[in-house]
Amino acid sequence: MTTTPPAPNHLPEQRPGIGVLVSGRGSNLQAILRAIERGELAARVALVISSRRDAPALEIAAAHGVGACVIVPKAYPSRAEAGAAIVAALRAADARVVALAGYKPILDASVTQAYPNAILNVHPSLLPAFAGGMAPRPQAEALAAGVKVTGCTVHFVTEEVDAGPIIAQAAVPVLDDDSVESLSARILAEEHRLLPYAIGLALSGRLSLVGQRVVMR
Ligand code: GRF
Repeated sequence: MTTTPPAPNHLPEQRPGIGVLVSGRGSNLQAILRAIERGELAARVALVISSRRDAPALEIAAAHGVGACVIVPKAYPSRAEAGAAIVAALRAADARVVALAGYKPILDASVTQAYPNAILNVHPSLLPAFAGGMAPRPQAEALAAGVKVTGCTVHFVTEEVDAGPIIAQAAVPVLDDDSVESLSARILAEEHRLLPYAIGLALSGRLSLVGQRVVMR
């Protein structure tokens, strides 16, 4: 694990901390940071954890003065030990809610158990349709299936991939001349709106579970 020192994120420390887990481009991380900077999300990014040393998302964290570390699960003897490292880093940073923003590895159960109903994932389809697989697979599957509407989902992360309780969804049309790229871009614009919104809901303490349904009190 390599670390850069946590920076204040230019905001008061008493704001609730978000841990953001990334593996790639980081546009959803950027959307979270911009929502904070615009005053739309009363929080601070306490820590970014990347599963890859070369993730462009790390440059976004640095540009915003956010503390970041790299935890490569395959560098650990077991998934459980990688999970323990992730939980330790999140706890040390005082993260209250965790967002998976393009995070590729499947989290060990110890992580989901350490943060019950507090880890959010954004997936580029209207779950439960086109579950599983990273972008652009869900978008390509939607095109191939011929659906006229698709979108994105933010859900709580449970041990079953892409199957946790749904917090929020946004729909977009599938146009006749769409390519995987054009459809993905339309969905991504909605992800950038939906993920900060759902993080705000999760931090509000107003969400509760009724069976598999997330309801707002
Ligand atoms: C997004 O499409 C997200 O839905 C999926 O991975 C992609 C991440 O993009 N889970 P970015 O790294 O946030 O730009």
